[in-house]
Amino acid sequence: MNNSFIISGSSNEEFARMLSRESGVPLAKLQTGRFSNGEAQVRVDEDIYGKSFYIVQSLSMPVDEHIMELCLISDALKRGGAEKIVAIVPWFGYGVQDKVFMPGEALSSKVVIDFLQTVGIHSLITVDLHSDNIIGFFEIPVVHISAIPLFAGYVAKKYGKDVLVVSPDFGGAKRSRRFAKEMGQDGMIGVIDKERSLTKGNVTLRGINLDVEGKVVVVPDDFVSTGGTLIDVAVLLKRSGAKKIIACISHALLSKDAAKKIAESEIDEFVTTDTVMIEDLKRKQLGDKLTVMRVGELIRSYVKK
Ligand code: R5P
Repeated sequence: MNNSFIISGSSNEEFARMLSRESGVPLAKLQTGRFSNGEAQVRVDEDIYGKSFYIVQSLSMPVDEHIMELCLISDALKRGGAEKIVAIVPWFGYGVQDKVFMPGEALSSKVVIDFLQTVGIHSLITVDLHSDNIIGFFEIPVVHISAIPLFAGYVAKKYGKDVLVVSPDFGGAKRSRRFAKEMGQDGMIGVIDKERSLTKGNVTLRGINLDVEGKVVVVPDDFVSTGGTLIDVAVLLKRSGAKKIIACISHALLSKDAAKKIAESEIDEFVTTDTVMIEDLKRKQLGDKLTVMRVGELIRSYVKK
């Protein structure tokens, strides 16, 4: 008899399947559907009472549907008497809106966290939050895993340790410094002076603080959505003489035609993880530039039989 189950939301079934295979914890049977009026419905087809459940759901597009599905699954488990409910949310959507940037806006990160805390989730496991400030919005335990050691190991093996790590903006400097240290460097990094308009969303790059001439440059970032930031960064770096540009992006959201644009850009390699499911067409568009690393191996030890 099984005491624990992994239960997969619809955002990233492959991630859940791999985690189940590697941890030896079976996948629970779940029925999902929609009523004719568009409302979501879920039913867990397992004996729930007294059992532990690990719900895998990335808050990727369609984000609001995935949040709702996660909430309904957890509520079903809570009502069925589950002993432990752990949400594995490899990509935590709404994490960027961790402040009221302009008067009149919502504090969206907190709204989502408050939702999740009303449906019985006991703890949450996530990967590379945009800002770890939002951990303070949670009342439940949060395990925050970083993909940086995976990326750094990959880059060191393929390109050696003598690479220059460049943060695409000031906000990412801490992440990039960690990357450089993980590469065995003293923590010296390049930082690009980037400004994003709060009203229009467009980005202006003003320059970089270090010489990149002839260097293999690694650009870590938490996510790529439209690809706009990354592509502009790559143009700036190549114009400044960089030899190669390796993007290490934790979450490949790849909205709109980002995959195609990255494929056609100055970026030499796009290394990412499997926190967000990448559609076949996008994989095809990125072709040889794409490398996907699995973060499941970092999460596996938290999943108990
Ligand atoms: C910004 O702070 C984020 O870390 C990303 O650099 C950025 O917002 C990615 O968005 P896009 O790909 O649309 O430029």
